[in-house]
Amino acid sequence: MFLWRVKVPFILFVHKLIYIRNILLSVFTTAFGSYELQRLPAVHNESLRAWDAADEMLLQHMESAEEDLSGASILLINDQFGALSVSLHKHAPHSWSDSWLAHQATRNNLQLNQLKDTVGYLPSTEQPQGIYDWVLLKVPKSLALLEHQLICLKPYISTNTRIVAAAMTKHIHTSTLAVFEKILGTTTTSLARKKARLIFTSYEKTAPQSSPYPTSFYEKDWDIHLTNHANVFAREKLDIGARFMLQQLKQLPSARHILDLGCGNGVLGIIAQRLQPTAHVTFVDESYMAIASAKESYQREFAAQQADFIVGNALTNIQAQDIDLILCNPPFHQQHSMGDHIAWEMFKQSRKHLIPGGQIWLVGNRHLNYHLKLKRLFGQYRQIAANRKFVVLAASKSG
Ligand SMILES: C[S@@+](CC[C@H](N)C(=O)[O-])C[C@H]1O[C@@H](n2cnc3c(N)ncnc32)[C@H](O)[C@@H]1O
Repeated sequence: MFLWRVKVPFILFVHKLIYIRNILLSVFTTAFGSYELQRLPAVHNESLRAWDAADEMLLQHMESAEEDLSGASILLINDQFGALSVSLHKHAPHSWSDSWLAHQATRNNLQLNQLKDTVGYLPSTEQPQGIYDWVLLKVPKSLALLEHQLICLKPYISTNTRIVAAAMTKHIHTSTLAVFEKILGTTTTSLARKKARLIFTSYEKTAPQSSPYPTSFYEKDWDIHLTNHANVFAREKLDIGARFMLQQLKQLPSARHILDLGCGNGVLGIIAQRLQPTAHVTFVDESYMAIASAKESYQREFAAQQADFIVGNALTNIQAQDIDLILCNPPFHQQHSMGDHIAWEMFKQSRKHLIPGGQIWLVGNRHLNYHLKLKRLFGQYRQIAANRKFVVLAASKSG
């Protein structure tokens, strides 16, 4: 009893200190206001903020243009956690992104700052509307996505549109600038500031163009055609981790409801469906383009069969209560930052969602030590196969 009384106030006090410190460190201040911003998923690492110097430069540039922004139509492309959307919320910007997490982070950050949600959320698989006065673009990691976005942007800009892109200097390559130049027109860059740089491009090449994406490829070992939209992982060939996982799928336990978690083009779920034709398969990914790709690949393979395709963060948008098998080739990047926090979140949520006796099967680089995570969460794990680079592991939820 005595211990309880002493401990509770102490824990609350420590928690509050961390909480205050966290908020102090996450205030984003520009000429457009000061806002608390958080990443999604939240990472317990204070060095990873929800914005970067490229966001700051974009807003500084907009402010220094001294234009009256009232009534201006603004398109934000690849705003990762809402730093631009929140700062410009008074102008009801449109946020065009391939990331469901980016859109959800924007909603969360508007709410965190008690702001009305005025943002128009546009998935990458849909088209923007109208002609924009301003386009602010954060350069994506994938050059194919940049190319696709610039081509798709053309009907929605005019020669008067201000088009400004930004990125950390180390992510701007000659090939990045060449894409702007080839698709839109003359392109120049600013001086670097805090290791970030702006890219200015003037729209001259106004003839419409069609995007080369999505593409598809034939994988002969598995006799399968896979569709890949511009931002999809392993766009031109099968990922080697996925290939190793596929070789083990014949050993899968028979299942009624299989979840392909972080499905990309859907190859794991599609091959599992072939092996277990009576199972129901659900595909989930946080990338709109991944879900579109998985759907197209699945429908080509199983014209008369139904599956579910759900965009969301790990299993947070999954309602089903009967999942007895989860297949996962987890991500280890979120745009340019690396880490296993998303994998950890996926494993934790998998344990919660699986029915008793249900299993998760995953593939990962050996050095990522996913077995330690499975042991911690499930109390046990089995190694199904290993080669020099990868390991396939399984764990069961106790009954
Ligand atoms: C390593 S790739 C695997 C793709 C595919 N399953 C394969 O094996 O080729 C990881 C996938 O996880 C997705 N992803 C990343 N973060 C996610 C999240 N929080 N929730 C759901 N999917 C996510 C990525 O978009 C990517 O498609």
